[in-house]
Amino acid sequence: MVWMDWVSLFIRWFHVIAGVAWIGASFYFIWLDNNLQQPPEWKKNKGIKGDLWAVHGGGFYEVAKYQYGPEKIPETLHWFKWEAYTTWISGFSLLILVYYFGASAFLIDPNIMELTQSQAVLMGLGLIFGGMLMYEVACRSPLAKSPLLFAIFLLILLTVAAWLATQWFSGRGAYIHIGALIGTIMVANVFLQIMPSQRAMVDAVKNKQEVDPSWGEKAKLRSVHNNYLTLPILFIMISNHYPMTYLHEQNWLVLIALCVVSAWIRHFFNLKHLGVFKPSILISGAVAMLAIAIWVSAPNILTTSEPQTKQGTELVSQSQVKQVLDSHCVSCHSKTPTDPMFPSPPLGLVMDDWKDVENKLSVIYQRVFVTRDMPFLNKTQMTNEERKLVADWYLQNLN
Ligand code: HEC
Repeated sequence: MVWMDWVSLFIRWFHVIAGVAWIGASFYFIWLDNNLQQPPEWKKNKGIKGDLWAVHGGGFYEVAKYQYGPEKIPETLHWFKWEAYTTWISGFSLLILVYYFGASAFLIDPNIMELTQSQAVLMGLGLIFGGMLMYEVACRSPLAKSPLLFAIFLLILLTVAAWLATQWFSGRGAYIHIGALIGTIMVANVFLQIMPSQRAMVDAVKNKQEVDPSWGEKAKLRSVHNNYLTLPILFIMISNHYPMTYLHEQNWLVLIALCVVSAWIRHFFNLKHLGVFKPSILISGAVAMLAIAIWVSAPNILTTSEPQTKQGTELVSQSQVKQVLDSHCVSCHSKTPTDPMFPSPPLGLVMDDWKDVENKLSVIYQRVFVTRDMPFLNKTQMTNEERKLVADWYLQNLN
């Protein structure tokens, strides 16, 4: 329905804006914390432990971080929580709108697992909230004391979740669920630890009681976790544009590899803010990204770049190709689609006439033969022979 597209547009837009504000604040505060310097004596006497000067937008800013708290809580105190909450609320609304209402189109892939809509939704929610709960329990256990052990725990948790999700859902639906799990962990960090700790700190200052340093430390640990999760979650937010990732046979491993390497790259920046410059991290990160790209895509390039027609094989004709596209694509990609899920042609791509097809041959070849994610969820059950036929014709007529 067209109005649903508008609802989706506004929520998605809002989600991106809120996410930019949240992650922007996360980057800024980690940067701030890591750049604090020893204050001069007179500031120390006021209880300030970190000092920072910046110039931005035509003015100088002086930032002071207190060891415990100011003597008196100022009238206006900014909290930075709604960035997190609104990102999560809009993200979850999108998940429901696109993947739960549209489960049969986007979440369920009968070639992976035959599920009803309610089964798929329950499994999805179970994965998200079950995973979040395990993380929360681990954070409150002794495991949280060792950053390395905790990182290993988190890696195992996400790997198991990614593997499960890809055994249940379409590649795209699986990826978005890992994104939702990470996002839920991040917002729970704010809601369940960072905010309560900060409230306790503010109350203590108000009542002139001692501020327990462990509150600040616990909150800080969670915000560091969140910081390392930002690059992975941003990749997942854009992953639906890149079928070579979520349609790979080991799509769960591709996802985890990209998450690990991007968190590693984040580590470079966090160290750099602390004055530790380790280009080896950035270089190894780039090499690892390249290795992932080669692992995922080289086999395709090797098998598809060769001309497919050997001497003596029969040439494929244009009308054969048109016939295949008519029977497998036009139910969605038409000015008047017959598929009930898609009242208008997806991404405006129509294939009613050969002229429409001709302009789009290279993307059609890509999606039919290289990434193989069209027909969508293979709803029209295109066979491998038919895919090869389209590819052969395309490669024959390249020049
Ligand atoms: C069940 C509906 C459906 C069928 C059938 C279908 N598609 Fe699609 N197609 C979609 C949707 C939805 C999108 C947009 C989502 C996306 O890109 O992942 C899309 C996007 C595309 C795109 C990307 C267009 C662009 O501008 O980037 C191409 C190319 C494409 N389809 C080709 C095909 C071909 C070729 C077939 C037949 C072999 C086909 N599709 C069959 C639903 C369908």
